[in-house]
Amino acid sequence: MNIIYHSSTRIFHLYNDRISYIMMILKNGHMGQLYYGKQIRDQEDFSYFMETCQRPMTSCVYEEDSSFSLEHIRQEYPVFGTTDYRQPATEIVQENGSRISDFTYRSHCICEGKPDLCGLPATYTETKDEARTLCITLKDDVTGVQAELYYTIFAKGGILARSVRFTNNGSKPVHLTRAMSLCLDLPDRDYIWQQLSGCWARECHIHTQKLEPGIRSIGSMRGNSSHEHNPFLVLKRPSTDERQGEAIGLSLIYSGCFRIQAETDAHDTVRILAGIDPETFDWKLDCGETFQTPEAVLVHTDQGLNHLSQTFHKLYQKRLARGYWRDRPRPILNNNWEATYFNFTQDRLIEIAAKAKECGVELFVLDDGWFGARSSDTAGLGDWTPNKDRLPNGIKGLADRIEALGLKFGLWFEPEMTNKDSDFYRQHPDWILATPQRNISQGRHQYVLDFSIKEVVDAIYEQMAQILRNAKVSYIKWDMNRSISECYSKAWPSDRQGEIYHRYILGVYDLYDRLTAEFPHVLFESCSSGGGRFDPGMLYYAPQAWASDNSDAIERLKIQYGTSMCYPISSIGSHVSVSPNHQVFRDTPLHTRANVAYFGTFGYELDLNRLTETEIAEVKEQICFMKQYRSVLQYGTFYRLKSPFEENVTAWMSVSEDQKTALVGWYRVLNVVNDRFTRLRLQGLNPNYRYRNSRTGTCHFGDELMYAGLITSDETAGQIPHGVTPYTDFESRIYVLEVVES
Ligand code: GLA
Repeated sequence: MNIIYHSSTRIFHLYNDRISYIMMILKNGHMGQLYYGKQIRDQEDFSYFMETCQRPMTSCVYEEDSSFSLEHIRQEYPVFGTTDYRQPATEIVQENGSRISDFTYRSHCICEGKPDLCGLPATYTETKDEARTLCITLKDDVTGVQAELYYTIFAKGGILARSVRFTNNGSKPVHLTRAMSLCLDLPDRDYIWQQLSGCWARECHIHTQKLEPGIRSIGSMRGNSSHEHNPFLVLKRPSTDERQGEAIGLSLIYSGCFRIQAETDAHDTVRILAGIDPETFDWKLDCGETFQTPEAVLVHTDQGLNHLSQTFHKLYQKRLARGYWRDRPRPILNNNWEATYFNFTQDRLIEIAAKAKECGVELFVLDDGWFGARSSDTAGLGDWTPNKDRLPNGIKGLADRIEALGLKFGLWFEPEMTNKDSDFYRQHPDWILATPQRNISQGRHQYVLDFSIKEVVDAIYEQMAQILRNAKVSYIKWDMNRSISECYSKAWPSDRQGEIYHRYILGVYDLYDRLTAEFPHVLFESCSSGGGRFDPGMLYYAPQAWASDNSDAIERLKIQYGTSMCYPISSIGSHVSVSPNHQVFRDTPLHTRANVAYFGTFGYELDLNRLTETEIAEVKEQICFMKQYRSVLQYGTFYRLKSPFEENVTAWMSVSEDQKTALVGWYRVLNVVNDRFTRLRLQGLNPNYRYRNSRTGTCHFGDELMYAGLITSDETAGQIPHGVTPYTDFESRIYVLEVVES
């Protein structure tokens, strides 16, 4: 990995063995983008990559050079209001009302490793040789505002992390009304745009579209990254698939309002912008103040989408997630939510936990309803003290009993919210986000606390810390069940109201920071009515997230398949729930529910006491199986093989690092009559290793399994031979492949 500055041509070249990122200082002092893609050898002069010509009807910044129009130049950090009519990366409103700025190169420095993004989640390095960072300082002379563009190239993988830091070195305050984390201008539009979108209970579905002239964007104006659009984008070449081809992945490490967009102009240049949503953002930068944008991560591959995802998985698993739980297998848990909802007593919880323990579960999680006057979702949020009617011995009493059973104990919180019917709200009616004289909308009967105020965060922190200090709590499920509306903070002056969405998220990060620092052994799982905030910002603090409130195995195929595009399997919260399922009322076999949940954190979202003895025996086997293989399932290399968005059969697999163990998940949604013979071409095996197939007992070399395929044919419905158990809809299998010879 290297970062080279060619002073004679004023060109920067960042490269490692996979990628090159090349840019230059343009003759007007702005930064121009020359190349981003597979690594090319270094040379002094790449300026020919910047093609210019005189085009009719364009405005030019130089009178004497009519070919130098910003409109047709690929740039690194374009501004609003000059001769570039595309959307800018930044816009600064000044005292005289002007919105134009002119950021020109001043200096640069290169350092080993990667600096922190004070107060914001970001990727990191553990040793200085893992990455190198270039910081380019630009300045706008009229306002005195300085912009530092940060580029970190990692030694391994085609990874480039970017962010921008603004400092007002001028003598007057300005307003940043747009401060994107990155701009990337690409020279052609021969890409398929792929996004992860959906809604509650239908998160992370894959949607694709050819890039066409105009703007294509995803984003959130909800205060959370949202169920609707995940802050993740793939641009892939039309011929790229899971196994091969070029693709660029863009992931924003942020949990609030965001925007990611591609603008295709009249000459087929594509401008990618990613960062905080400009619509909901207006940050006053007083003299001497600094503003740090969130980090955006770019990954480039020429080896297909699986490789792109694997690069993100590894980065986010090892260099975004932190702390005690980063590398540890996730505990198998039993959560009481779908088992009891709000209807529980301490005895009932103990009953559920005892059965879970008998089956091999490791962690019991008490979900919503344990605090304040919470007997439904209309009351109690904000009052984080145990409800003595339900829990006469408090959280400590319950936790002790759960621990005595030999289980760890986990607890649900929704720290950012309060109900109108709560002591907390009655004492602090001013601590919610609400616009004066306007209606205050409720969502799930609750208000959003004003986390832009430190005192509010302090108060919630104290309540939570109190519980954690007094009781043995090993896990926290941190929920966030509504989006923000009527966003306004009474604590901030009128000219800072545009900062509240971002300050809110900073408050959330601050609370996470404090809790993870004081309780480093607690495992945090983030949640936002399922996957409403499944984003890299959260993964920095909470290494796993509840992927969806939809726990149906068949629905989960799409949700987990889509989620795996960016996020590691060890982060995907997935449980076995009852049948018929509570969201789609579908009956699925118990083994299929487990076979899907294995490719995630794994657990149960039901009362195991309600199962038959045969089912309990099956559950016990499932848990043994998960314990045996979870390190491969959660930390192995994950490959998507067949897409639920395209076929009746979904398949994926995880391979251990030493390639000696592989687990293949195969799922058929609807049964098929008199089907063709079927094979699954596997990936990631060692062609020279011989593997034993757990289902057939037969042994095959990796090359056979990858190139000819794993035989998955079966006796399908119809006139099947006597004595053969017929398969039904929602059938699934796990094939375990273990090396017999290597
Ligand atoms: C959200 C979560 C659920 C559950 C409920 C409790 O919907 O996603 O898993 O915790 O809240 O109210």
